[in-house]
Amino acid sequence: MARRLTNALSIGDLRAIAARTTPRAVFDYVDGGADAEVTVRRNRSAFDAVELLPQYLSPVADPVLTTTLLGREIGMPLVFAPTGYTRMMHHHGEAGVARVAADNRLPYTLSTVGTSTIEDVAAAAPGGNNWFQLYLTKDERINTDLLDRARAAGCSTVMLTVDTPVAARHLKDIRNGLTIPPSLTPRTLAGMARHPAWALNKLTTPPITFASLTAMAGPSIDAVQVADVAFEPTLSYRHLDWLRKHWDGDLLVKGIVSPENARRAVDHGADGVVVSNHGGRQLDRAPATLHVLPQVREAVGPDATVVLDSGVRHGADIIAARALGADAVMIGRAYLYGLMAGGERGVARAIDILREEYSRSLQLLGLNSSGAISRGHVRIP
Ligand SMILES: Cc1cc2nc3c(=O)[nH]c(=O)nc-3n(C[C@H](O)[C@H](O)[C@H](O)COP(=O)(O)O)c2cc1C
Repeated sequence: MARRLTNALSIGDLRAIAARTTPRAVFDYVDGGADAEVTVRRNRSAFDAVELLPQYLSPVADPVLTTTLLGREIGMPLVFAPTGYTRMMHHHGEAGVARVAADNRLPYTLSTVGTSTIEDVAAAAPGGNNWFQLYLTKDERINTDLLDRARAAGCSTVMLTVDTPVAARHLKDIRNGLTIPPSLTPRTLAGMARHPAWALNKLTTPPITFASLTAMAGPSIDAVQVADVAFEPTLSYRHLDWLRKHWDGDLLVKGIVSPENARRAVDHGADGVVVSNHGGRQLDRAPATLHVLPQVREAVGPDATVVLDSGVRHGADIIAARALGADAVMIGRAYLYGLMAGGERGVARAIDILREEYSRSLQLLGLNSSGAISRGHVRIP
């Protein structure tokens, strides 16, 4: 397995390994998006279309990759996005991912619908820059409890996701008969039989549950109830005001593609926004995040924090995002492909690949630090 991971030279290579090592329904759940997956493709084409404009004859022998995000220095402008059900992808799950993040001095965001608890993550990565992604539920007691636990576990930042008023339709998941947690239907049993290592690990490690929610709602909470938590059609700025009042740490609003939304989120007390279309998993036909990024930055001004995700697969994508107004990018699938390909070591390989690409791209552009990237280094034809 170690050799296979070392031979992977790109996130695409890790994706190809993941497709072989993981049951089809699970791989498709990670890889796929909403409806016709127009936005999934759009996210990538926006990055591919960016031209990088080098300026040579200045020394770039040892580029400084670090940057400051929300007042803390991090290893490079990269954050681990929240992804639900991570132990379904590989039994190392959220704890393994958080350890890799901490080893690389990068923030890790645990999802409200994670399969490990806030406390599990803090124990796995005690020195980590651990963040918590919040889906606000109808039950104020649950919301307060999640915030109390995030605070007690040392989370510096809460990220409120707002692009899930209702569930999107993922056609692949419907066709694959995917349920979360995976249930033993003839079709999923057949999928598991083709991936005995994955199936054995699932049977010999703790069952997949919605860990943080189970602790409050009891062990019987199921996917339907979790959907009720994650998808909240009444979510409004009033909820953001409530959250600002009850969370004194850093607060980001995730799922923004509109400059107006971004401005108002900051007016309501957010420290910044995550420009995101959920990786093309919510509103299909939403714009590529890279295309709306400059207007969002303009709307919130230079002091607010702007993070961008959706489609980041290469170190040079970090340069494009920074040049167009982001402080950092987040990755979702890029690390999940690594996780499915080889557990914790696969996640570490994904970060090594992205770091090497980022560093080399900086050098080839004639830049010697993350801080040196500016608008003039990119052109969108
Ligand atoms: C399998 C999977 C599960 C996700 N679960 C969540 C979640 O629980 N909460 C959330 O805010 N975003 C979730 N996201 C969205 C990510 O946080 C992020 O916005 C997205 O993955 C970025 O696009 P990328 O995968 O192209 O990097 C999920 C994404 C994936 C791929």
